[in-house]
Amino acid sequence: MAISAGTNSIGLQYAERKKMNYRNRIKLIPRNNWDYGIKAFIDSLVGISRDNTQGGEIENVFHEKPIWTNSGRVSLYAILKSLELPPGSKVGVPLYCCSVVFNAICQAGLSPCFIDSNLNDFNLSIEDLPRKRAGLAAIIAVHMFGSPCDIDAINSIAGAVPVIEDCAQSFFSTYKGKQTGFLSTASFFSFRCGKYISAGEGSAIFCREPALRNNIEHAVNSYRSLSAFQAVFDSLLTLVKATLYNRPLYGLIGHPVGMRLDKKLNLTAKEGFETGRIASPYAALVNQRIPGFQQKINIQREHAQMLSQSLVPHDFILPMEGKDCSSNWFQYALRFQNKNQRDAMAAYLLNQGIDTSKYLDNIPDEARSKYGYTGDCPNAERLSESVLLVPIHYTLHNDDMVHIARAINAGSTKI
Ligand SMILES: Cc1ncc(COP(=O)(O)O)c(C=O)c1O
Repeated sequence: MAISAGTNSIGLQYAERKKMNYRNRIKLIPRNNWDYGIKAFIDSLVGISRDNTQGGEIENVFHEKPIWTNSGRVSLYAILKSLELPPGSKVGVPLYCCSVVFNAICQAGLSPCFIDSNLNDFNLSIEDLPRKRAGLAAIIAVHMFGSPCDIDAINSIAGAVPVIEDCAQSFFSTYKGKQTGFLSTASFFSFRCGKYISAGEGSAIFCREPALRNNIEHAVNSYRSLSAFQAVFDSLLTLVKATLYNRPLYGLIGHPVGMRLDKKLNLTAKEGFETGRIASPYAALVNQRIPGFQQKINIQREHAQMLSQSLVPHDFILPMEGKDCSSNWFQYALRFQNKNQRDAMAAYLLNQGIDTSKYLDNIPDEARSKYGYTGDCPNAERLSESVLLVPIHYTLHNDDMVHIARAINAGSTKI
């Protein structure tokens, strides 16, 4: 099948999906890993009457007590509010980042100052940060795709300015042998479905500055907590959504419905938030999943290595692990030479039964229209139009990975 590189990407994807036959739809490999099935639902409900936010595996592993909230964005909001910065203060944040982070900054009464990213590791640029450092009251350092950013350099440029690690994607990644999340003023992880732990919802904040930690605890204690009935209902809803986001229903319902309705219904929760504490079943599941988690990372790492060894990178650049870092390989990001090639590959792979993600492809426009971005992050803009995330989830089988590798190499000859 010939692929016209100049075709409009959404039109192309839609046309390709229409051509996808019923068998391919059933087998469609989802772009994200919503690992939440009946067992997770039952496990999460077993301890519903217990307070699962005290003790547990997360404290055993990190030797620190987390402050639990219902989502990463709420955690960030709580940390920013607790810093008690003057209203309107500027917070440095990479433009190549999920827009819910920009939203949380604004909800906290502050304003985002966009920092460019590195093309090679997708993380905050330590060349651009010093240029903008003077006006900043705080910096958010995102460990993008699980690959740790150069946090030593960022801390050193920040000086006295607080640095918040966004570890939504970097659970168990390490930088110079230390876990991400314990290298800065404060940090947060996300356990929402689609993230590595995929507990449904939930997030953990860590902070070792006693005064700031007190403020955060105080703020989070004032947030609502779900009743047991609401928590069960929420978990059930998570189970239904996760069923739609997994094979065989993903290709039949999750993907086509998601493509049409996600923006309207906010199905994957890309916008807004309501402050809350974590619901007990979700905290139970996070703690329950931590002991087997390294094994899942190992599988995902094997999948990444298999792709890196099998792919022939004519039109794209393969992702690499940073120096002195261990990535959890949350995502496998190919960077194409241009948008047309990236979009053509996405369309080709979809037709081969592989869903991919053009992650953050709209972020410069969204940041411009809603958050005052003025166009000074050229690398991040390039990333937004050239990155394609290819599935490597630990739930995929070897056959799936072989199929993905072959399809990318075949697609490469056609785009
Ligand atoms: C880098 C990054 N930061 C923060 C968040 C927010 O996490 P949550 O979805 O738990 O609010 C996300 C996920 O959407 C993310 O990818």
